[in-house]
Amino acid sequence: MKNVARIFTPVLLFSLIYLTGCYSDNEEDLYPNKSTCDTSNVTYTTTIAPIMQTNCNVCHSTAVASGGVVTDTYEGLKIPALNGKLWSAVSWTGPKKMPKDASQLSSCNLAKINIWIRDGAPNN
Ligand code: HEC
Repeated sequence: MKNVARIFTPVLLFSLIYLTGCYSDNEEDLYPNKSTCDTSNVTYTTTIAPIMQTNCNVCHSTAVASGGVVTDTYEGLKIPALNGKLWSAVSWTGPKKMPKDASQLSSCNLAKINIWIRDGAPNN
């Protein structure tokens, strides 16, 4: 019996440590990018309009339409969204890098804009 205990005690201890270790393996720790950028429900109203409000509307409102571009209404934003200028501006792949004189939008916001444009820039 003494031998059995000598074998089983370390095995038990090891199993306990090993199993409790798994409790910290949650999705957020393992896949940080997956949980911080949710691109599952991109819509104009809940996703795109707030990004424009924060980063673009100050220079592209209906009243002050820099470069003839309006980003504070759906009708305004739809034009550069569909003719390619919105993506070339925010992705910094074209001649105009937006937002002007500021840092580029986060990769998460770029992913969302890209999805919205790819979907045909719907008014949803
Ligand atoms: C500080 C003011 C300012 C901000 C902020 C700004 N823009 Fe602009 N934007 C301009 C100006 C001015 C032009 C006209 C072209 C130029 O002078 O560079 C322009 C041009 C554009 C164009 C036309 C580009 C082309 O190829 O003709 C698009 C599209 C655009 N902006 C989108 C955006 C978007 C989207 C944002 C937010 C992410 C944004 N802008 C933020 C000032 C701004």
